[in-house]
Amino acid sequence: MIDPTRRRVLALLGSSGVLAACSSLPAAPRQPVVPPAPGLRFDPAAFTPRSVTVDGTTLAIRAYEGLAYVARPVEPAYQCLNLYIPAAYFDGGEVGGFTAATAPIFLPNQVGGYMPALPGKLDGRAFGPPPGGGQAPAAALPNAIQYALSRGFVVAAPGARGRTLQAASGEYTGKAPAAIVDLKAAVRYLRANRERLPGNTERIISNGTSAGGALSALLGASGGQADYAPYLAALGAADARDDIFAVSAYCPITNLAHADAAYEWQFAGVDSYRKIDISMLDYQVQRKTVSGTLDERQREVSAALAASFPAYVNSLNLRAPDGNALQLAADGQGSFRDYVASLLLQSARTALAQGRDLSALDWLQWQGSQPVAVRWPQYLAYLGRMKTPPAFDALDGSSGENQLFGSASEDKRHFTAFGQQHGTVASLGQAEAAVVRMMEPLSYIGQGGGQPAAHWRIRHGSKDSDTSLAVPVILATALRNHGYQVDLALPWDVPHSGDYDLPALFDWAAVISRQH
Ligand code: DHB
Repeated sequence: MIDPTRRRVLALLGSSGVLAACSSLPAAPRQPVVPPAPGLRFDPAAFTPRSVTVDGTTLAIRAYEGLAYVARPVEPAYQCLNLYIPAAYFDGGEVGGFTAATAPIFLPNQVGGYMPALPGKLDGRAFGPPPGGGQAPAAALPNAIQYALSRGFVVAAPGARGRTLQAASGEYTGKAPAAIVDLKAAVRYLRANRERLPGNTERIISNGTSAGGALSALLGASGGQADYAPYLAALGAADARDDIFAVSAYCPITNLAHADAAYEWQFAGVDSYRKIDISMLDYQVQRKTVSGTLDERQREVSAALAASFPAYVNSLNLRAPDGNALQLAADGQGSFRDYVASLLLQSARTALAQGRDLSALDWLQWQGSQPVAVRWPQYLAYLGRMKTPPAFDALDGSSGENQLFGSASEDKRHFTAFGQQHGTVASLGQAEAAVVRMMEPLSYIGQGGGQPAAHWRIRHGSKDSDTSLAVPVILATALRNHGYQVDLALPWDVPHSGDYDLPALFDWAAVISRQH
């Protein structure tokens, strides 16, 4: 079993530890190919031959690293992508049943903590097996890029700007919405070059974990939306569509405007915490654990935020797959919570069926050999509170998300009305509503004006307390309610991490890619 601490660090590091040089959907509108600007033209001849060995089979790869995906980058080391293509696709060959014309394009971002992310590398680190699951030592496991190639996917791994970047002038260059603008620019680059590039640009499948999972979801939700056009134009992004086919999102840290309330809906009453502060130095994630107990003011804040959550959930008019309305009463109980509990039960049943021993857990209620209910307080004790209220829009502006929502001239800002009203640092400004909107997938689901991804796979481990379980459940349910295909699960005992089930991820990706 991989130690959760290490898994978390790996999740944050992504697979890039070093600086890099840096048959269409019926509804998708076809566009004429607008030739990319000369600097954005992909040159198939400019490759480095590489190979990848997965499960004993070696595949020849053409590697193209550090390709600028915008004509006027602000941060050239980040605004570029690494492209890896099975060499067979240049000779009319097949890999995993795909050809140059049909191969889906896997688009993994490496973003963690909303920090700047370099493009993923072929030889980057693997995330490791699921806790208690796989037998292989982590070093022997393929990373997502290697595994994708072995299944016949083309891989385009984009870098993206993040919240700590600063130009020599002192201006901040990676504040919201920079990272999502960058991912969109990468998609546009691929589409603009589709005549030169093996792979089906109508089958782009995004992947990411945590903040990277949030950006993966946002990329899928916001395809084709005009909000981002001025940002893309300023960078000289290619003139092409930026919608994608499918989203894989592990533990997305999303719905930031309501995540504080969601966190307290879940954790109100749990007063002890183990908080993890994330920072980055020289591309190394720095982690500091601080334990404590909420003080009286924090308990008041917790109660106020928790009390605001039912009205928000109820306003979404969500329906479970069986058609039941998902609602919450003022005390935070109701069909929405029951639905979340049912997903935890499903997770337990799946783990049982796989032979896991769950008998040591006190938060499942059993009938014979079957778990039939979740004991909520005991579940929360198992899970543990990780964040103090407000979990995301910190009153003193100290959270990573405060820094994400800074501006060119301000490092940190509030981004919720609650944070602004109750903030303790008078000088802290407020992010523009338009910027908060551009960071939120739900802004674009069922709202028209774009082309959200048709297929979604969302995972949030049952032992993940970086955000409330309500966050992935709301996202998945809203998507389903608007007709999108969603595969949602809360994998058993999995902490905050991603890429732990690559065979299942790529089984899903291959099946949807063959549908139309
Ligand atoms: C990540 C984790 C967090 O708890 C958070 O608030 C934002 C991002 C991450 O691991 O990417």
